[in-house]
Amino acid sequence: MIYDLVIYNGVVVTASDILPPSIYIGINNGVIETMTTQPLKGKKEIDCEGAYITPGGIDSHVHLDQDNAPTGDDFDSGSKSAIAGGTTTILPFAIQPKKEKNITAVVQDYHKRANKKGGSYCDYGFHLIISEPNEEMLTEEFPEIIAQEGITSVKVYTTYPRYKLTDNQLLNVLLANRKLGVTTMIHAENSDIIDFINEQLQKKNLTDPFYHSISRPLVAEEEASYRVIALAKLIDVPILIVHMSSKTAMDHVRKAQTDNIPIYSETCPQYLFLTADYLKPSCIHHLDPHDHFEGAKYICSPPLRQEQSELDAIWDNINNGTVTVFSSDHAPTTYDDPEGKKAGIINGIPHYKSIPNGLPGIETRIPLLFCFGVETQRISPQKFVELTSTNAAKLYGLTNKGTIGVGFDGDITIWYPKNRINFKLTNAMLNHSIDYTPYEGMQFTNWPRYTILRGEVVYDRDNSGVIGSKSGQYLKRHASSLRGPLHDINSIFK
Ligand SMILES: *[C@@H]1O[C@H](CO)[C@@H](O)[C@H](O)[C@H]1NC(C)=O
Ligand SMILES: *[C@@H]1O[C@H](CO)[C@@H](O)[C@H](O)[C@H]1NC(C)=O
Ligand SMILES: *[C@@H]1O[C@H](CO)[C@@H](O)[C@H](O)[C@H]1NC(C)=O
Ligand SMILES: *[C@@H]1O[C@H](CO)[C@@H](O)[C@H](O)[C@H]1NC(C)=O
Repeated sequence: MIYDLVIYNGVVVTASDILPPSIYIGINNGVIETMTTQPLKGKKEIDCEGAYITPGGIDSHVHLDQDNAPTGDDFDSGSKSAIAGGTTTILPFAIQPKKEKNITAVVQDYHKRANKKGGSYCDYGFHLIISEPNEEMLTEEFPEIIAQEGITSVKVYTTYPRYKLTDNQLLNVLLANRKLGVTTMIHAENSDIIDFINEQLQKKNLTDPFYHSISRPLVAEEEASYRVIALAKLIDVPILIVHMSSKTAMDHVRKAQTDNIPIYSETCPQYLFLTADYLKPSCIHHLDPHDHFEGAKYICSPPLRQEQSELDAIWDNINNGTVTVFSSDHAPTTYDDPEGKKAGIINGIPHYKSIPNGLPGIETRIPLLFCFGVETQRISPQKFVELTSTNAAKLYGLTNKGTIGVGFDGDITIWYPKNRINFKLTNAMLNHSIDYTPYEGMQFTNWPRYTILRGEVVYDRDNSGVIGSKSGQYLKRHASSLRGPLHDINSIFK
């Protein structure tokens, strides 16, 4: 028997185990067909030289080709960047603009965007962002989309005028999603608190990039997180609170989890590695000491937090199981472009409110957690796999993905043996279409050496980088498997 691809001499890690050494993985037709200690023969064979072998990354929170980010990545550059960072599956968003009643048309439009330049380098699915729910949409159109498109998750917002839902609307979406078995992702920040602080800052002309972080305080995240947990508790339905950045908000999640309420939590690299100091003009990491606007590069929401202790608490919450998934929230915008971050300079004066939100991170997400989590022994290799791949596969119904096992897709990341490489990251090394990385100059001790998508080597770092074609497939997803049956619902909601 000759396999399409054989991978051997590495340390296979799953979310639960580090497998004994000298396992041979045999992949045929894109699927892992065997894992054995018996030597296997392949048309192509990869000797891992003792390095870690982890499941292909799943980045379950990325923004590509969005109208509100004209200078951001599209599916072409974004998916290429994913592959070069060890990610084989992405879940970008298809967005219902307010006033657009037809969500079928929204999804079709995003299929067109994904195929605009010939498709995606990695596999992908869509989450649906709902900005204006109505009865007909939730009860008629949406069930059809789930059945036909395999979209089993929606995202809603408690903030941003463009997307924000009232609590009443949130409850309607949660109830519909409960009936349909759909996972709800929620951006939780209290928009009235933010508006109020914006007005105060405006009166004092405090409009530099740094004040963005002042305008969205921890308590705005804490309040909204607790509120959406309460709403989910009322309906008894699973929710995932996206991009969590605050200890007190996480405390509410932890309490809910202990009470057996199905609350899941996501965090992102920026909340582990960057403080609000990066927003200040005096930040030592800025490349140009004369450019006082560089803090704009670090504007995202929730904002980077002021205190290192907040970041440390997120690490603790990763280790003690409160955090469910680690995503990039890749929502980039070019810096030096009048439609990019510099849209925030009006008549020569910086206005943080006009700076597009978001950071690039699709390519650096996995290497950051591997180098500064696994290799520094801050987290275990299994925890790394759970957070970067396995839990996202379970939560979002990607039943063929998220682990290395017989019958699963041959999506695999192979690392370098320890101490083989060591380099300072520069933006020129990345494959996104953005003119900066927030992690410029950080010292990396490892990086994916090979990325394998359904048995095909699509990235070989030492030989030409991304070498795959745009063979990424659209993924129809199943219901979340992270939670069993729900409790009986209050009969008045039936
Ligand atoms: C929604 O859009 C789809 C695709 O464009 C179209 O086939 C369908 O008729 C539309 N539905 C309504 C109610 O307008
Ligand atoms: C804010 O700026 C405006 C316009 O430059 C100016 O008229 C006003 O006095 C300033 N207010 C404060 C509090 O500095
Ligand atoms: C997890 O870590 C956070 C942050 O340190 C802490 O507040 C929380 O109590 C911890 N939870 C458990 C169950 O240990
Ligand atoms: C993509 O990233 C690799 C490193 O991972 C780098 O060598 C290569 O130059 C990048 N490609 C482009 C087009 O920027």
